[in-house]
Amino acid sequence: MGIWDSVARLLGRKKDIKQEFASIPKHIAIIPDGNGRWAKKRGLPRNVGHREGSMALKKVVIYCSEAGVKYLTVYAFSTENWKRPKSEVDALMSLLVEFLRNAEKELDGSNVKIKVIGDVKGLPEELQKEIIRVEKLTGINNGLNLNICLNYGGRLELLHAVKEIAVKVKSGNLKIDEIDERQFESCLYTSGIPEPDLLIRTSGEQRISNFLLWQCAYTEFWFINELWPDVNGSHIAEAIKAYEKRNRRFGGLEQ
Ligand code: IPE
Ligand code: IPE
Ligand code: MG
Repeated sequence: MGIWDSVARLLGRKKDIKQEFASIPKHIAIIPDGNGRWAKKRGLPRNVGHREGSMALKKVVIYCSEAGVKYLTVYAFSTENWKRPKSEVDALMSLLVEFLRNAEKELDGSNVKIKVIGDVKGLPEELQKEIIRVEKLTGINNGLNLNICLNYGGRLELLHAVKEIAVKVKSGNLKIDEIDERQFESCLYTSGIPEPDLLIRTSGEQRISNFLLWQCAYTEFWFINELWPDVNGSHIAEAIKAYEKRNRRFGGLEQ
């Protein structure tokens, strides 16, 4: 514990996390991987790992919110995760319902606005209802924008955008020459959300696994070995510190 923490504790005040950083990424994306391995290491069923993972998510959401991150996008269930055994998929869906149901209570006062990104229509009805409810309820908040990617796949998202563009062209509302990056982005699920500045993947895997394929064109990557249920604010702080040292050139020259 540093001196600041001790002083803050003595004064009964919370440390201002924002002061720890010179610059905070506006948008952090996370691939929270390793729930299954976390459980396996302890001889527990994979679903226990998912439950612990959902608690880690709450901690990270609160940390990012206090740090002043504006957007946090979390990969919670991919279009490929349906390949897992039905019992695991069912448990994940129930956990997601539970997470959303308790979200406003557990993230109390954090002013978080929740949005779900992905093919929502392919999700169980109970989960769809919960999504509508929580998006409406938190829609007035103006703090951290928490985007939860559910039944999300980067390729599916790109195909979805292509189809939307094709419909506009076919109906005569859009000329082929008018299709540019801005137009294309407006057809993505993430329309209106800035591109991630920093992508964090846990569990030591170093791949993108079909996440935000278009949006991560110039995102900084940070891989950590911790399994997701073991992650807390300190790991996010380390990632932000590393991000601060990066030199983003976007194809241009050093600033
Ligand atoms: C990430 O943990 C959570 C989801 C994909 C839903 P995993 O379930 O992928 O855990 P590992 O990678 O098998 O350890
Ligand atoms: C990526 O993790 C998807 C989520 C975290 C939801 P996976 O565990 O599904 O990815 P792979 O199979 O290791 O690439
Ligand atoms: Mg995994």
